[in-house]
Amino acid sequence: MQIIENHPLKSLNTFGIDVRAKFFTEFNTTTSLVDFVQRELKNFGNSIILNGGSNVLFAGDFDGLVMKISTSGMQVLSEDNAHVDIKVEAGQNWDEFVLYGLDKGYFGLENLSLIPGNVGAAPMQNIGAYGVEQKDFFVSLEALNLSTGKMEKFNKNDCRFGYRESIFKNTHKHKYIITSATYRLNKYPEINIDYGAIKTELAKMGLADNPHPVDVSKAVRHIRNNKLPNPEELGNAGSFFKNPIIEKNKYDQLKAQFPDLVAFAQADGKYKVAAGWLIDHLGWKGKRIGDAGVCKNQALVLVNYGKATGQQILELAAQIQKSIQAEFGIQLQPEVNIIHTSPNI
Ligand code: EPU
Repeated sequence: MQIIENHPLKSLNTFGIDVRAKFFTEFNTTTSLVDFVQRELKNFGNSIILNGGSNVLFAGDFDGLVMKISTSGMQVLSEDNAHVDIKVEAGQNWDEFVLYGLDKGYFGLENLSLIPGNVGAAPMQNIGAYGVEQKDFFVSLEALNLSTGKMEKFNKNDCRFGYRESIFKNTHKHKYIITSATYRLNKYPEINIDYGAIKTELAKMGLADNPHPVDVSKAVRHIRNNKLPNPEELGNAGSFFKNPIIEKNKYDQLKAQFPDLVAFAQADGKYKVAAGWLIDHLGWKGKRIGDAGVCKNQALVLVNYGKATGQQILELAAQIQKSIQAEFGIQLQPEVNIIHTSPNI
């Protein structure tokens, strides 16, 4: 296995932060990854996994080993008249998987079109958009236990999926490497267009009558392209913060004070507040401090205009958090994984 020293990571993180890894290695097969973890990983201090690099912010150079997962491929495990189970390698690009399904007539993931990143990261943060989360189609995953060097299988319940959450972001953080995930897709078109913006977009595109999942995918692509900056043109990692979940009494108090507040009632009686609205309301949208900025079209997205450092993005994030706390009494939490010099800090 080739280990490269002082390896640049700028092109490997969608924020485009210009940092380096003390050591770097890349795996094209799961077998080579398992072999490395069993035999050689112990020779390195800190290590992290890099998948698509689309949901990370490097705070600075990484003083350890970065392991890039570059496996790819999709395999039909089983199928009947209604469903198909597909095993997807962790390094497979997510949107290519969505497009492959639509092409073959395997539906369900159309609302998750164009989400940047790879399949291995999808269960990690339970990616979601436009009323659908990956957990809705998830069956199981395989992950390598870093302390035993053995592969383990996790079924849906084992993963404890929540809003942008899973066991792999909590108790199992830095302890496993997800190597593949299996999804069960529908062979019949069953669309979910409850998220208002999709219906509006379909109507605009003249596709409102009995839309097909391919149409829904087109609408989602359109919305995303209009609202979210393309990381290839402007560095970003999607939503920087999570939408905070607050108690009903807090919601009632805020709604009385800010009648335009955007928030959604949850099944448990709490409310999920649109953090983008909070940030926008305080005038942050389009603000720029050096090369670190708040996206012009979506205040929840922080952007790198070119030469921003991880510290500058974090400084901007801290200022936003401070002002949201002062005005609304809400502590915003990052949605992006922040990678410090050592992952255990
Ligand atoms: N809003 C504003 N100003 C803004 C941004 C948003 O007022 O600058 C308001 C909008 O008017 C809208 C509401 O906030 O009523 C929600 O905005 P949007 O539909 O853009 O979605 P979001 O809650 O900001 C979440 C996800 C996105 C996902 C969209 C669509 C999180 C942290 N983010 O954003 O996911 O694409 O919903 O489902 O849950 C990501 O995770 O990286 C991501 C992009």
